[in-house]
Parts: sequence; C-alpha cells; structure tokens
Amino acid sequence: MWKSSVLLHKLCIHTSAALLKRASPNLKGKSPAEQRWLVRQLRDPFVKAARVENYRCRSAFKLLEIDDKYNILRPGVSVVDCGAAPGAWSQIAVKRVNATGESPDHPCGAVIGVDLLHISPLDGARFLPNQDITSPATHAELQRLLPGGLADVILSDMAPNASGFREMDHERMISMCLTLLDLADKVLKPGGCLVCKFWDGGLSWKLQQGLAEVFKEVKPIKPKASRKDSAELFFLAKSFKKR
Ligand SMILES: C[S@@+](CC[C@H](N)C(=O)[O-])C[C@H]1O[C@@H](n2cnc3c(N)ncnc32)[C@H](O)[C@@H]1O
Ligand SMILES: *[C@@H]1O[C@H](CO)[C@@H](O)[C@H](O)[C@H]1NC(C)=O
Ligand SMILES: *[C@@H]1O[C@H](CO)[C@@H](O)[C@H](O)[C@H]1NC(C)=O
Repeated sequence: MWKSSVLLHKLCIHTSAALLKRASPNLKGKSPAEQRWLVRQLRDPFVKAARVENYRCRSAFKLLEIDDKYNILRPGVSVVDCGAAPGAWSQIAVKRVNATGESPDHPCGAVIGVDLLHISPLDGARFLPNQDITSPATHAELQRLLPGGLADVILSDMAPNASGFREMDHERMISMCLTLLDLADKVLKPGGCLVCKFWDGGLSWKLQQGLAEVFKEVKPIKPKASRKDSAELFFLAKSFKKR
C-alpha cells in the first residue's frame, strides 16, 4: 500500500486525509526519498488547501489558476479531461461549466474524464476509466458521448509514469501530448481550446509547432501552484482551426 502511494504521488499529489495521517506520525523505516516527499507534502500549503476544499488532488490549483486568468471554462461548455484520475480537474470543470445544472433555462455544460486508471464517481461528470486516450476506440466513444459529438475544451494533465531518466520521460511526454492533436481533429470544435501539461526539454518546440499548426494562439504557462523545481509547464492553445 505504501509502495503504491509513493508510485502514485509521481502522477498526482494526493490529498487524502488517510494518506497524510498514516504518513505523519513517523518517518522511521522510510527511505530518504520517501522522507523528503513526506516532509514536503506535509508542509505544502496547496496540499493543505486542497484538503480544506475537498479537492481530490493538489493539481486542482493549477487549473484554477489557469482558468481564473484565461477564462476557458464558462457555463455551458463541453470539456474532455484527459488523464482525469483521481478527478480534481474534473471537480473544477464540473463547477465552472455548470455540468450539474438541470434547469433548461441555464447553460449546462458537460465534463467527460478519461484515464487508464479507475476514477471514483463524481456528480456532473461522466468518466471513462481504464481507457487509453491515445486509442481510436476512446476517440469514438467520446464522439458518441459529447453533446453534438464535439467539445469546446480539451484539458490534459496526463503524464507517463516517470522512469527517472529525465530525457526519456520528456520524450514520452511530448509524444503523448502530440497524440492530443488526433483527438482534437476528431472532437474539438472550431475555435475550441486545449490546455496541455508537459515536461519541458529539448523537444518542447515540436509540441509547440504541432499545436501552432492547428491553433491560432499557443503560449507556454507556468502556474504558481506548479512547483518551481519541476520541469512542468503547460501549453494553452486557443482558437482551433479545423484542418
Ligand atoms: C497527474 S495525473 C492527473 C491528475 C488530475 N488532473 C486531477 O486533478 O486529479 C495524470 C494521469 O494521467 C493518466 N494517463 C497517463 N497516460 C494516459 C493515457 N494514455 N490515457 C489516459 N490517461 C492517461 C495517468 O493514469 C494519471 O492518472
Ligand atoms: C447553472 O445552472 C443552475 C441550475 O440550472 C442555474 O441556476 C445557474 O444560474 C447556472 N449558472 C450559470 C453561471 O449559468
Ligand atoms: C503507470 O503504472 C500503473 C501501475 O503499474 C499502470 O496501471 C498505468 O497504466 C501506468 N500508466 C502509464 C501512463 O503507463
């Protein structure tokens, strides 16, 4: 259990009370790396805030920050959340697009989350667990489920499992992000936008170039909630041009 928590934290800094509680009392018997992670986790103001706000993952604050600034999640908008587990980005998207709103007089959005892993149910979101976002079968399923078969926004906080070899992880990340262009071709509305996490490195230009071919505006952003010591960045790509 401990091992799997350590494995998971690389993808998402979990905020579950159970994990933090069992972690807090003693560091004995933990490797130095595990101890460092725990200490950082316990001191991290975003981890604390995430627990207070009931977000499933600390990463929530990155999307909040991006959306506060760029206002992409408006009521009525349809969103595909790629790599959605454990579901914090979807929590935010559901609220901001008004995906639980039932009144026909009000704009009511949609949120569909996809992940290779299981995702616990969330009111207002539709999840496709155990599915690979790079697979054409998943694309077809999304086309079937989205209102009118199309999305206004694609969000991706996806990441490959880190191998620890920075260059290799960077390359895998960039190839993974590039597959989002196929997804956009199939489900993104003209004028739609995409937010995509990546780990910066020598091939980032390839991703930027790929995005710039089909979006009018592409810019790299680094939210404050993204740790300064990490190579993590996001591309915000706006105004999708259908090919
Ligand atoms: C950092 S976590 C996402 C955290 C999420 N945004 C949240 O706020 O709860 C990255 C996720 O991407 C998923 N992922 C990686 N590759 C994927 C793929 N090819 N298809 C679907 N999900 C993928 C991982 O399983 C992992 O759960
Ligand atoms: C969201 O939907 C609810 C109920 O359908 C509605 O009362 C509310 O005004 C909507 N919010 C926005 C910002 O449109
Ligand atoms: C990461 O590892 C987990 C556990 O081994 C596995 O279930 C998941 O599919 C892997 N994710 C990726 C992106 O390869």
